[in-house]
Amino acid sequence: MFELTDLTTLKLPFRAASILKLSSIENVCVSMPELASAPRFILGGGSNLVVLEPEFEGVVLRPEIHCFEMNEAGSEIFLEVGAGHQWHEVVMRTLEHGWYGLENLALIPGWMGAAPLQNIGAYGVELKDHCYRVKLYDFEEQAVIDLDASELHFGYRHSILKENPGRFLVLTVTLKLSTVPNPRVGYGAITEELEKQGLSSTDPCDIAKAVISIRQSKLPDPVMTPNVGSFFKNPVVPSEVAERLKAEFPEIPTYADGAQIKLAAGWMIDHLGLKGHQVGGFSVHNHQALVLTNDGTGNADDLRELVALVRSSVKATFGLSLAVEPTQLGHFN
Ligand code: EPU
Repeated sequence: MFELTDLTTLKLPFRAASILKLSSIENVCVSMPELASAPRFILGGGSNLVVLEPEFEGVVLRPEIHCFEMNEAGSEIFLEVGAGHQWHEVVMRTLEHGWYGLENLALIPGWMGAAPLQNIGAYGVELKDHCYRVKLYDFEEQAVIDLDASELHFGYRHSILKENPGRFLVLTVTLKLSTVPNPRVGYGAITEELEKQGLSSTDPCDIAKAVISIRQSKLPDPVMTPNVGSFFKNPVVPSEVAERLKAEFPEIPTYADGAQIKLAAGWMIDHLGLKGHQVGGFSVHNHQALVLTNDGTGNADDLRELVALVRSSVKATFGLSLAVEPTQLGHFN
């Protein structure tokens, strides 16, 4: 068995029968057909993964594909990036080049290949706003295919890749950026942070600095404190449900999500007094109740108990079922 615990940020025990590093698209095309029917799991940065069963009797695929190729069309920049790059490094590299768009998404952990999977998002911007095309290996067709953004079914923490678990392996992502800044500072916390630090609200590099500061103040660094960022998705409900809750809990933060309303699950967990609540080695984070942390001694049963407590408390008070956000290997029940 190969020991893989340290390749995940939550640090729950993880071993696999084998691991296969994929360093190029050619490498994928040669190796994948024989794995089409084998139990397999794709592991990128391991920062959005909860391993509930310690032993995986299959092959773990590690897409370490690196490419960074730019095409220019006037002020538009089309940048094809390999799945194996660290997301945050790509964000900083694009800003250094003066290619704008990703500034609100600074400091998100993980690899490029995982970004389209859950349509990563923060501070009013989502990957879908800057994703042009994704190159995938399709295990069903045993072929490399390109899907345009419109074919990826992007939604809140959702994509066609999430709809078809295990079917696709992301090879590259083509981003659509611009040499003309388009600052998005509508998210209250960003404006406050820019003012506090005396930064410019029109300079994308300053916006990235503000986002980095906010994230550092609220979210635990996965290198120091094992965690997977937000543990639950914010529930998206019909407006009648949101209005009913707002009447009972006037302070609950709400955001428009198409015709529906997204409610802040972190606020609900916080409101229930669960910040800092601990089960074994797992706790609800003190600065952001949507995040669960492992003090390094936590096991899967501690996590199961804490998750069950948070979900049943939210259900009892707000009548809503919280969905777990990160990818799971194994089951909660
Ligand atoms: N809130 C509280 N108490 C808490 C946490 C939040 O009162 O303990 C309130 C905040 O004051 C704010 C609202 O709830 O009014 C929303 O909080 P926040 O801005 O921190 O965002 P979030 O909805 O909890 C989402 C993403 C984060 C992303 C932030 C910023 C999800 C599941 N999470 O969190 O993404 O960084 O917005 O845009 O949508 C991640 O996915 O891992 C992640 C960190």
